[in-house]
Amino acid sequence: MSTIVAPSLLAADFLHLKRDIEMLNKSEAEWIHLDIMDGLFVPNISFGFPVINQLKEVTDKILDVHLMIVSPEKFTDEIAAAGATYMNVHYEACPHLHRVVQEIRKKGMKPAVTLNPHTPISLLEEILPELEMVLLMSVNPGFGGQQFIEATVRKVAQLREMITRRNSHALIQVDGGVNLETGRRLVDAGADVLVAGSFVFSSENPEETIRQLRAL
Ligand code: DX5
Ligand code: ZN
Repeated sequence: MSTIVAPSLLAADFLHLKRDIEMLNKSEAEWIHLDIMDGLFVPNISFGFPVINQLKEVTDKILDVHLMIVSPEKFTDEIAAAGATYMNVHYEACPHLHRVVQEIRKKGMKPAVTLNPHTPISLLEEILPELEMVLLMSVNPGFGGQQFIEATVRKVAQLREMITRRNSHALIQVDGGVNLETGRRLVDAGADVLVAGSFVFSSENPEETIRQLRAL
């Protein structure tokens, strides 16, 4: 099975967003990763509903929404209306995670839980059977273009072991500092989905870069 590539729109050129989305449409990327930040859960603010609501009109790619916000459960209706397939919420932002996950599923989306770099895999033991995907952050969330945190490779392997042991079908996604070198090691450790922002959009030939990531 080839690796699923989810280019992160955060690294696109917002003055030429249509051009960048047309590039993604032509590319082998199956998904588009959308980073929503609130300036509270993370020290940055990105884009919100005025942007993501329009995407479903211009792309058939799977929309994967990564919410780096407090109280993400407030926005399940809006994220579903934007056409999201995956709604990613942070473990660290949800004291009632089980309820949020049920709510996401009720609204017709696939629930995914994201772990910050300091959060251990073992904390997923009880929620894993309810999930379609786990996103492991390989940088501290909030910004594109940061350096890959090496310990993520070991976390991917641990999560793969837990998924096999619990007979789960959850995908393993990794986000932050992904390039061909880190991507190779993540896929070898068991990752299914690679998010890549700056590596794709600052490349000379983004479509070719996506193709290379997919072939890992
Ligand atoms: C970081 C975001 C990422 C970001 C990745 O908080 O969640 O999705 O866009 O960017 P790169 O691939 O440049 O590290
Ligand atoms: Zn992200």
